Amino acid sequence: MLSLLGKAGSDASRNTLKLFLKNGTNPVELRIKAVQALADNRPGQNSLLELVKDQTLPEDLKPAATEIFTKSHRKELKEEAAKYLDIKIQTYTLPPLNELMSMQGNADSGSVAFVTYCSSCHQVKEKGIAFGPDLSEIGSKLSREALYNAILEPSAGISFGFEGYAFKLKTGATVSGYIASQTEDEISIKMIGGIIEKFKKSDIVSKTQHDRSLMPEGLAEGMGTHDLVNVIVYLEQLKKE
Ligand code: HEC
Repeated sequence: MLSLLGKAGSDASRNTLKLFLKNGTNPVELRIKAVQALADNRPGQNSLLELVKDQTLPEDLKPAATEIFTKSHRKELKEEAAKYLDIKIQTYTLPPLNELMSMQGNADSGSVAFVTYCSSCHQVKEKGIAFGPDLSEIGSKLSREALYNAILEPSAGISFGFEGYAFKLKTGATVSGYIASQTEDEISIKMIGGIIEKFKKSDIVSKTQHDRSLMPEGLAEGMGTHDLVNVIVYLEQLKKE
């Protein structure tokens, strides 16, 4: 039930989860589950951060929250949480683009790094999750420089059809993703994780376009030079047969 409340993603379900996790008479394992359920989606992660910031997150739940923020792809959120929790933000300083461009890498190691950092959103030859564009032939489409730019600055050029939106529903919940398809009265939204959900247009109150890419910033800094260069070399050799 806790995870269903997390998925519901409305103000009411978030409040229920918050009351549950703050109530010290509930068993701690379940209160930890409530923290995880709350962090199921962006608005929930934001409310978890609020609890951390205003010091109302119970002490025994801090390790669970620390783990969630440590693993988060959302750089701003992670940095904010790190002011209050013991989160190690591992970021590497990367050499400038012209230096990266001339570095040698290894495609096999790159394919391993790709699975770690990228295949939660991209498919290559049907492996991975289809959320972002399929990259099976990306080496024929983008130059080395364009590949670097796509990773270093995802928001600089957002691929057509992958513009992200926040949809506010009548229930109060917000769904974030891009439009997979639509008809006159229905819209299918693809969310991170690759799940597509269909909504009646009449159930959607508003739609706001994100100004940032759905692909997270700061991925390259989290990978470090070595993995980054290897991933690029790997992508370059993914060509049309
Ligand atoms: C959370 C999901 C997510 C992750 C993780 C992710 N991407 Fe993306 N990526 C996207 C989305 C969505 C787009 C399309 C929007 C855009 O262009 O910014 C995209 C676009 C791209 C493009 C441009 C594709 C084109 O056809 O122009 C490349 C290249 C790319 N990603 C590579 C990577 C690599 C390499 C990694 C791992 C280091 C990665 N992505 C990790 C979601 C993700």
